Amino acid sequence: MKKDLLGLKELEAKDIQNILDTAATMKLILKQPSKKTPHLQGKTVVNLFYENSTRTRLSFELAAKYMSANAANITASGSSVQKGETLIDTARTINAMGTDILVMRHNMSGAPHLIAPLVSASVINAGDGMDEHPTQALLDMLTITEKKGGIKGLKIAIIGDINHSRVVRSNIYGLTKLGAEVSVGGPGTLIPPGIERLGVKVFRSVQEAIVDADVVMGLRIQLERQKSGLFPSLREYYRFFGVDEKRLKFAKPDALVMHPGPVNRGVEFSSGVIDGEQSVIDEQVTNGVAVRMAVMYMLSRGGFAE
Ligand code: CP
Repeated sequence: MKKDLLGLKELEAKDIQNILDTAATMKLILKQPSKKTPHLQGKTVVNLFYENSTRTRLSFELAAKYMSANAANITASGSSVQKGETLIDTARTINAMGTDILVMRHNMSGAPHLIAPLVSASVINAGDGMDEHPTQALLDMLTITEKKGGIKGLKIAIIGDINHSRVVRSNIYGLTKLGAEVSVGGPGTLIPPGIERLGVKVFRSVQEAIVDADVVMGLRIQLERQKSGLFPSLREYYRFFGVDEKRLKFAKPDALVMHPGPVNRGVEFSSGVIDGEQSVIDEQVTNGVAVRMAVMYMLSRGGFAE
């Protein structure tokens, strides 16, 4: 059995479906007035974050606490990393304190893969560089399943910075394994060559990418990319690639509007689209807690098939 969740690339469709089914059950707990279960009683969960986070870190912490685990957070800025301690030594130190689940976010792709074989704790990838963000894609898939009744056969358009996004990679692996048709769109400078090999269609215009889509998912434009000359200005990005009410009409009338957050209003989407009736961005956040409860519970019960 796999003791870790490092990415959706290495999970089979049945494992992904199992997580989504378990998360749907966990969601019932979130609707109770008293959100407390004994699923992780006596277990210890540590969040080790080398990058900023609001949604992922808090939802892992809340999920652990709702399931009665001992939960703690460490950020690089407030830890001995600042004194020169290596990632490996930091992870071994956390492991030596009886940690059962180590949730890691790191700016280097592959950081959780490096640590997982060195510790007895289950390692969960909470976002590594430009590689994967598996629990984000799982919460996206749970949201789509709830709203559309399933994933198979749906047209999903993902718009934005495809090259630097770990969210898009996890979503491509997960959605295509569950039978969706995935299109990506964005400026040529933000689309990696060869992405078609992952089984997606590539479009250089937003309109073409979102025609007849069941889901329009925006990706955050990482503001630092503009400084590297990958697009001229945010205003120009919005003009050509931003999704406003007019462009959204190219998708199906009941298309879902999704975004992993944090959103740059007036860059990836207009405020009207973000706050509009088709937006399920808040539901994505709620589902993040349910998915993280499911993943931690399943790992504590033996993990996923090899
Ligand atoms: N979607 C996401 O990973 O958000 P945070 O960076 O706030 O965790």
